Amino acid sequence: MPAAVGQLGTDLPDFETEGLKQMATGAVFMMGDNPALPRMPSAPTLQEFFRYRLLELGVTGRHLLISAQKALEAGLDEDVVLAVLLHDISLPCLIRSDHGYWGAQMIAPYVSEKVAWAVQYHQALRYFADEPNGYPYPDNYNRFFGPDYVPPEYIRRDAELARGHRWYMASRQVTIYDTYLFDNGPLPDLEMFDDIIGRHFKTPKEGLGFDGSPVAHMWRTMIWPNNFL
Ligand SMILES: [Fe+2]
Ligand SMILES: [Fe+2]
Repeated sequence: MPAAVGQLGTDLPDFETEGLKQMATGAVFMMGDNPALPRMPSAPTLQEFFRYRLLELGVTGRHLLISAQKALEAGLDEDVVLAVLLHDISLPCLIRSDHGYWGAQMIAPYVSEKVAWAVQYHQALRYFADEPNGYPYPDNYNRFFGPDYVPPEYIRRDAELARGHRWYMASRQVTIYDTYLFDNGPLPDLEMFDDIIGRHFKTPKEGLGFDGSPVAHMWRTMIWPNNFL
């Protein structure tokens, strides 16, 4: 089953009704490991989520590695490099809409408050140029949303709040290194970030999804994205 929230308002089939019809043939609904996806280890680490999910599906996993590599090469602080590495983590395998807020929430128990904050506010700050700090309005946004697009009120409000915050530059750096070089060059080695992840991401010993944290269900949804319930 695809997630209902991504089907609303689209012309995708009504999978629920279609699935219920197929029960007449003796078919059962997806529950547990989907054989079409790589099987995740029982206590998965952040790196394993990259390996088995984020880098498997679409271009965003690659985008995260390339952006973080550039941030690392530019000599940014380790916690900001981690924020760049994780800034779009909700996009490829969980949910797209309001991805900065979802991404911040799912990493919050495991990173510093500043890293989660930088991830949350990058979404709003992306819409507002800061040329003196090296961030023009992205050409891609003109193409994605049209030149007349005006962000909604909550995005304008949060960008304004972020601009006056002591962690503004951490989130601004995320937007600066948010590079759209999806297809250029080789994929950076994930191992390049092992030390930074080790120092700044508190991987739970039970694995992400199984530590009983308030966000564990988000990680489990990425492990089993197609479960009926
Ligand atoms: Fe983003
Ligand atoms: Fe991004």
